[in-house]
Amino acid sequence: MKLILGIESSCDETGIALYHTERGLLAHTLHSQIALHNEYGGVVPELASRDHVRYALPLIRCALQKANCSLNDVDAIAYTQGPGLSGALLVGASVASALAYTLDVPTIGVHHLEGHLLSPLLSDPAPQFPFVALLVSGGHTQLMRVDGVGHYELLGESIDDAAGEAFDKSAKLLGLEYPGGALLSKLAQRGTPGRFKLPRPMLHSGDLDFSFSGLKTAVLTLSQQNELDEQTRADIAHAAQEAIVDVLAQKALTALGQTGLDQLVIAGGVGANQALRSRLHKDISKRGGTVFYPDLEFCTDNGAMIAFAGAMRLQHQEAQHGYRFNVKPRWDLQELNYAD
Ligand code: KG4
Ligand code: ZN
Repeated sequence: MKLILGIESSCDETGIALYHTERGLLAHTLHSQIALHNEYGGVVPELASRDHVRYALPLIRCALQKANCSLNDVDAIAYTQGPGLSGALLVGASVASALAYTLDVPTIGVHHLEGHLLSPLLSDPAPQFPFVALLVSGGHTQLMRVDGVGHYELLGESIDDAAGEAFDKSAKLLGLEYPGGALLSKLAQRGTPGRFKLPRPMLHSGDLDFSFSGLKTAVLTLSQQNELDEQTRADIAHAAQEAIVDVLAQKALTALGQTGLDQLVIAGGVGANQALRSRLHKDISKRGGTVFYPDLEFCTDNGAMIAFAGAMRLQHQEAQHGYRFNVKPRWDLQELNYAD
C-alpha cells in the first residue's frame, strides 16, 4: 500500500497527482502554459522552465490539500524523466529529488510516453493486457503492442510530423491560435463534407508507418487557391481532420488485424479528438473489438499518468534512492522493456 506523488513537467503543462495503490487517484492538479506561449506561436523552452518553477510547489500543496494528505504520507515520488524539453524536465526532476531526499523516500523516473500508454488503465472500464495502443500526441504518432508494463513492441510510427503536429500546422495555416488541434476540430464541425479532399499519404504503404508532413503543404495550397471566408476555412479544416483521422483509423485497424488482438487503446492529446473517437468506435465495434480512451483530462499531458506509471514501476522495485538525478530529453520507449 503506497502513496505516490507524480510530477509532469516535460513540456508546457505542470501536472501534479497523488495516486494510492489501493484507493486509486486521490487528487490531481494542472497548470497549462498555453496562454503564456500563445503569442509566440509555439512553446518557448526557457519560458516553459521558469513557469514550471513558479507552479510546481503551489500545485503540490494544492493536490495534498485536495487529497487531505500531508507530504509525510508520500511513499515515493515519480517524475517525468524524459523525453521532453531538457530545462522543463530538470525542474520536475529537481523538485522530485529535493523533496524525496528531505522525506527520505525513493524517486522513480518515468518515461512520458509510458505514462500516456498506461493512462487508459486509470479509466473504468480499463483494458486488459495485451492490447494495441495508438499513441497520438504533439510529438509522437506510434502504434504499439503492449503485453504488460515494460513489454512494448513498436509496430509502426510517423516517419516525419506527428499527428498532433499535422493538426497544429494545418490550424496555424487557417489562422487559428497555437496549439490549434482542438480549435481546428471545432471549426471542422461547421465544414461541408466532401468539398475538399486531401491526400492520405502512406495509406497503402503495406506497413504501419505514417507520414503527415505533406498535409500542411496540401492545406497551404488549398488556402492559397481559395478565398478564405469563414465557410471555406471550415471546409478545409474538415478535409484536414478527415485525412488525419482516416489514416489513423485504417492503420489502427490493420494493427489489430496483424496482431490478432481486439482491444485498441488511444493515448495522447489527439485522443481528445471527437471525430477520431467516433470513427474508431464505429469501425472497431463493427469487427467485434473494443476501443478504450483515457478520460479527456488524462489524454493531454497530466500528472496522474506519471503517478500511475510510477506506481506500476515501483511494483517492479524500480526506485532510486539518494539525491542524484538526470533527465533524458531523448529516450527510446523500448529501452524500458524488461528482459523476460
Ligand atoms: O499529449 P499532448 O498533450 O502533449 C504532447 O505530449 O505532445 O498532445 C498535444 C497535442 C497537440 O498537438 C494538440 O493540438 C493535440 O494534442 N490536441 C488535439 C485535440 N486536443 C489536443 N488534436 C486534435 N483534436 C483535439 N481535440
Ligand atoms: Zn504528452
